[in-house]
Formats: sequence, structure tokens, C-alpha cells
Amino acid sequence: MGKLRFSQVLLKISGEALAGGKDFGLDGETISAFCKDIAQAAAIGGRISLVIGGGNIFRGVSEQAAGMDRASADYMGMLATVMNALAVQDALEKQGLTTRVMSAIDMKEVCEPYIRRRADRHLEKGRVVICAAGIGSPYFTTDTAAALRAMELKTEAILKGTKVNGVYDKDPVKHPDAVMYSSLTYMEVLEKRLKVMDSTAISLAMDNKMPIVVFNMFVAGNLSRVLKGENVGTIVQGG
Ligand code: GTP
Repeated sequence: MGKLRFSQVLLKISGEALAGGKDFGLDGETISAFCKDIAQAAAIGGRISLVIGGGNIFRGVSEQAAGMDRASADYMGMLATVMNALAVQDALEKQGLTTRVMSAIDMKEVCEPYIRRRADRHLEKGRVVICAAGIGSPYFTTDTAAALRAMELKTEAILKGTKVNGVYDKDPVKHPDAVMYSSLTYMEVLEKRLKVMDSTAISLAMDNKMPIVVFNMFVAGNLSRVLKGENVGTIVQGG
């Protein structure tokens, strides 16, 4: 097995990605394809933790939540991430991986509570740890949860799986002339207000010198390519 550029990673998958081409809910084929990629990455030596978003079911800042108290809406969003985590756990287990869902909000009948040292042990034993319910507090996004868990679990990079190939100067879906960056600094992301992750997550990654790789999760094999250090997506790092 060749040496990997990143062997310990935290992969953030948005809820919208799990919906595949649909506007809402879960798309079994998409989830199964992602999980095949995760299994492939684990097979080449990747130690993977996941943070899953919930926007395919409920998003605290969406129109659905208009008029609701923000904190209540955010808690609903966190519960949505738990549903997604269970769906991904099921799909990963079908790929033969051992997994543990750990929730930042205690719901012990459903999954384990998130305890950092316990998560470390699971990872040491080769299990995929799926972190659910964000960080358990409203006003924080699952991007921020991904950055925080990446620090706590001492991963080497945050990988953000998206529907597009990387970070562009403008929305590539709306603008066919959008140009993709191969690398960016954290400050460039913040100054240009590029939609990589929210500013809290970027700042946390910057302060802790944690690289972020944004890549297309819909291209089979891309996750392993990122682990091997192939030129895939956009890397955010450095001053
Ligand atoms: P080791 O102690 O490292 O062997 O980890 P383990 O997770 O295999 O051991 P444990 O006996 O704690 O867990 C056995 C099973 O119970 C696993 O599938 C866990 O995910 C599950 N489990 C453990 N704690 C909880 C909990 O608080 N709630 C729920 N729902 N499941 C749990």
C-alpha cells in the first residue's frame, strides 16, 4: 500500500448531496455510491470520520423555518442530521464497514453519545465514526461541526464533498465561465467570501492550520484520489 498524503481525514457531506438529484430527502443510489467510495478509501488505509449535514430534510435558516425561533429551527436541523447519519451508517455497513454513529445530542436509544476519547478508540479499531447532531448547539453549522471534530480527532485534513469539482470564482451552475481555483489561502476564502464553508469553520481551520480540500463527491474514486494526494479539487491552506 503506497503512502497516502492524508490518511486520517474528516469528510463533510452536505445533506443536499445525499438527496442526489432530488430536492428533498434521501437518494439511496447516491448514498450507496458515496459509501462505496468511503469503503474504497478505507481499504487503501484511510481512517475516516464523517460529519453529515441535514439540509435535505430541514435547514434552520431556510424558508421552511421562516418565522420560527432560530434556536428551535436549528435543533430541528440537528435532528435531521441524525436521520442522515443512520442512513449513511446502514449504507456503509452494506459495504462491509464497521461504523459508529455518535451524536452531540444525547439520544442513547438511537446512537452513542459523542465522547472524543471514545471516538478515538473507534477510529483506532478501524471503525468509521459518523458524527451526528452538529456540535449540539444552535447557531453553529455542520461545517463548523466538521472543523471542530477534525481538530478534536486530530485528522490531517477536512474534506468537503460537494456536487461541483472544487471552489470557483462564481457559481459554476449559473455561470459557465466560472473558473476553478486549484489552491486558495484561508484569507482569500474569507476576503472573497467564497462559499467553501462558513466563516466560523474557515477561521477555526485557519487558526489550527488544518487544510480543507473541496472536491466532487459525485465522481467515483475521487475520495481515494484526494487521500493519495492526486490533483483533485481545491485545497485551502496557508497564510
Ligand atoms: P469497544 O468498547 O471499543 O469494543 O466499542 P463498541 O462500540 O463495540 O462497544 P460497546 O459494547 O460500547 O458497543 C456495542 C454496540 O452498542 C455498538 O454497536 C455501539 O454502537 C452500541 N452502543 C454503545 N453505546 C451506545 C449508546 O449509548 N446508545 C446506543 N444506541 N448504542 C450504543
